[in-house]
Amino acid sequence: MSEKRRIIIFDTTLRDGEQSPGASMNIDEKLRVAHQLEKLNVDVIEAGFPIASDGDFEAVKKIAQTIKKPQIAGLCRANFKDIDRAWEALEHAGERGRIHTFIATSDIHMERKLQMPPEKVLETAVRAVEHAKKYTDNIEFSCEDAVRTRLPFLAQVVEAVIDAGATTVNIPDTVGYAIPHEFYEIIKYLRDNVRNIDRAIISVHCHNDLGLAVANSLAALRAGAGQIECTINGIGERAGNCSLEEVVMALRTRHDIMPYTTDVVTEHIYASSRLLSTVTGISVQPNKAIVGANAFAHEAGIHQHGVLMDKETYEIMTPESIGLNKNKLVLGKHSGRHAFVARLKELGYDLDKDDIERAFVRFKTLADAKKEIFDEDIDAIVADEIIRIDE
Ligand code: KIV
Ligand code: ZN
Repeated sequence: MSEKRRIIIFDTTLRDGEQSPGASMNIDEKLRVAHQLEKLNVDVIEAGFPIASDGDFEAVKKIAQTIKKPQIAGLCRANFKDIDRAWEALEHAGERGRIHTFIATSDIHMERKLQMPPEKVLETAVRAVEHAKKYTDNIEFSCEDAVRTRLPFLAQVVEAVIDAGATTVNIPDTVGYAIPHEFYEIIKYLRDNVRNIDRAIISVHCHNDLGLAVANSLAALRAGAGQIECTINGIGERAGNCSLEEVVMALRTRHDIMPYTTDVVTEHIYASSRLLSTVTGISVQPNKAIVGANAFAHEAGIHQHGVLMDKETYEIMTPESIGLNKNKLVLGKHSGRHAFVARLKELGYDLDKDDIERAFVRFKTLADAKKEIFDEDIDAIVADEIIRIDE
């Protein structure tokens, strides 16, 4: 297979993720998460929205001063005051500081929210980028609600901001409305119709309102996007953003079919997910892909037997690859003898065939009455059924 294209991972847990209801973090909490993101080796950390509050300004500044490897981005609307404030916080990161400025380009946003005609939006976008250019060459411009923007106008804005100096152009699916083949066509349209598109990196920023944020991001890579914006545990506005762990592990697991790589150290994924849940108090649903409690758990007897023989029968990636020690065989009413015997051995019981049979019958009866059988239940079964009888 030809050489793989390296994809820039832009983490916005501390900005869009923080916009998740109940997820706001204080400065120390943001800094802890930023250190973890540095370990994870993301390329860009969007640390906040400096004009939004003094606290957020201080958090972005502190992160810009402290974090040494990733680039640090700060969000600002397309006006001089926002941009000046953002740079005041970001300048501490030097060349790694990235100004991320945006304005909405869809008809509904321009008419109903901004109350600006398209020509004015275009001019505002260009002036914002030109202003940011006084501070840095590292400028990202986002067309908010790009997916619902008329394509010729989207192309016009993208071309103009690249001419003005934007080095990354971000195409957000702000309301999570796109479906994968449509999003692919949007990115392809830009590649085919924007004269100077090769002078900038195309970024994508997908929300998850239809549960398609990861699929849309992967479709965009195929059309030529070079940066994915995402968050840990997929937190973010409403249904959240593209989940970092899902998109990165999809790229790693299906490298056979997708010619892209990232520099993320995936072995830090699980710890990152746990840290964020602890800091925000927002827990992860058990069946969440990659980091949910059940993501590497097997309950059905047939599955348990399979993974005891060869993990790859039912695991497409290893728990170790995300930093978990091992998979989990959950003992319940669907479990079979193989998993039960394996757990007895793990607990140190060396029983003969008859004892195992008696214990297994007791286990099945208990499993019908209880959702999950814990190690203590097995201890009790062995103590009651085997040891007591043998005495
Ligand atoms: O969803 C969105 O459009 C955004 C932009 C500000 C990048 O978060
Ligand atoms: Zn967003």
